[in-house]
Amino acid sequence: MNWRSPRTLGVAAALLFVGSPLCLAADPSPVAYPVGAATFQANCAVCHGAKGAGQSSLAPPLTSYPVRYASIREGRRQLAMTVLYGMFGDVVVEQKHYDFKMSEFPQLDDDTLATVLNFVIFDLGHAGQDTQPLNATEIAAERSQPLDGTAVHTHRAAVLAALGL
Ligand code: HEC
Repeated sequence: MNWRSPRTLGVAAALLFVGSPLCLAADPSPVAYPVGAATFQANCAVCHGAKGAGQSSLAPPLTSYPVRYASIREGRRQLAMTVLYGMFGDVVVEQKHYDFKMSEFPQLDDDTLATVLNFVIFDLGHAGQDTQPLNATEIAAERSQPLDGTAVHTHRAAVLAALGL
């Protein structure tokens, strides 16, 4: 690891921030994916809320569906597609409708997208030990097959059907 690279310093800064006593005082439960947590607060919390609870009719909660998606291959692909290409079109999560545009995040690298999704799955969704963390290779596989937000929305319907949701 090159300790002088900007990326390493950025990761170190994120770790320091998340692990600081002030931060721990505000939230006593330690997170399994601190870099993912920092990425989430910087990029996702504005719509989904700091704890992923969502916002009425604007952005869905991330505390129950993503953890289920992580249990099947097409669902894992769905998670990677959603952050890489965004999503557009009405979605229903726990009987509530959300119809807004999810931003795309191609500027975040594969490791960063995997870790932010792992924060969602494990820290927000409390996935059990039988769930495999997402890895950068799974993100890279979707990055090599570009889609638009409408296609991501269509794929989501197939994932929900496969999971019986
Ligand atoms: C501009 C607001 C906005 C931002 C920023 C945003 N999202 Fe979203 N997100 C949405 C909306 C809206 C949807 C539902 C899209 C739709 O209605 O088609 C969504 C959907 C999702 C879903 C799919 C949920 C499901 O049930 O299928 C995941 C996972 C997700 N977002 C994760 C993230 C992550 C991780 C980030 C940060 C890297 C992020 N979002 C940033 C608005 C946002």
